[in-house]
Amino acid sequence: MRVLVTGGAGFIGSHTVLALIEAGHEVVIVDSYINAKPSVIPRLEALAGKELEVHAFDLCDAEKTDALFANAAQAGAGFDAVIHFAGLKAVGESVAKPGLYYTNNLGSTLSLLTAMQKHGVTRLVFSSSATVYGDKAPVPYNEEWDFLNSSSPYGQTKVMIERIATDVAAVSEGWKVALLRYFNPVGAHPSGQIGEDPSGIPNNLMPYISQVAVGRLAQLTVHGADYPTTDGTCERDYIHVMDLAAGHVAALNHLDAQEDVTRAYNLGSGTGTSVLDLLHAMERAVGKPLPYVVGPRRAGDLPAFWADAARANAELDWRTEKSIDDMCADTWRWQSQNPHGFPEE
Ligand code: UFG
Repeated sequence: MRVLVTGGAGFIGSHTVLALIEAGHEVVIVDSYINAKPSVIPRLEALAGKELEVHAFDLCDAEKTDALFANAAQAGAGFDAVIHFAGLKAVGESVAKPGLYYTNNLGSTLSLLTAMQKHGVTRLVFSSSATVYGDKAPVPYNEEWDFLNSSSPYGQTKVMIERIATDVAAVSEGWKVALLRYFNPVGAHPSGQIGEDPSGIPNNLMPYISQVAVGRLAQLTVHGADYPTTDGTCERDYIHVMDLAAGHVAALNHLDAQEDVTRAYNLGSGTGTSVLDLLHAMERAVGKPLPYVVGPRRAGDLPAFWADAARANAELDWRTEKSIDDMCADTWRWQSQNPHGFPEE
């Protein structure tokens, strides 16, 4: 298939681009570089062993988005599918700047869906999040939970886009949509050439730990050790980005074999790991103790959640293969070889 990957220069997008190429698909990337550096592209090309078609613009620009689809179709190289990663993703920033998040994440998606409808592109894989389960769903999270909600504007954009894509698909002939709800993506490509490169001080646990390990940050602050969990710290379902990338390829293949369908899938391992367990696993990968202090709870954090991954296991014939130790070893290879992330150009 010829697949348009929006946000293809980002963390999950870039790993998925490689997985798609390995599976024999043709890939076209569109990325605004708001949250990614252009220097990821030559590395992707080296790993893929071929040049990549990349378009640098913001999907909120509906005219440019339409022109991308129109030009591809005119050249006889129209898209068979879209995998939509592009979007702003910082939970805390979204609380401070809700308008920015709603405008950007919804605006870009609406441009994209409009262009897909107009140009007859009927397969969509959307990058959703476990955050759509809100704070009332029982653990493990199951796709049958109907009351989607989220505590942050970022998370609400995921809820809303799931709804919008579902409604558009319902009235668009032949549409097939997979809504992939990621748990906590970590890890890096085993080559150490691409990985997670957040701008500024990381909000998420794994990049924070790996920047402590490489000496960019002094110590980890554990946000609360008085939760009702095994060791008092929050538990999450960490998933290796290579497993997550494989999940997208599996979803695309599955859609191909379906009639009109819109379906949500949890992409997670089905197990929870505590903050301290992840820290200790990283210490094993790095080969030295990593400094940390216990601080107060972070507002909005849930004590523990993980995926019921049975639906993805059965219907997509997909399951996670990488362990927590694999996630730490690959993260460390990337971070130690690229202490400051991708080079600036
Ligand atoms: N944590 C720390 N110290 C840090 C950073 C994180 O102790 O410096 C803890 C958090 O308190 C939490 C755990 O590590 O208990 C995981 O935190 P992350 O920020 O890595 O991940 P979250 O589970 O909070 O967030 C993830 C995704 C979001 C998504 C959210 C809800 O990153 O996109 O899950 O599903 F919205």
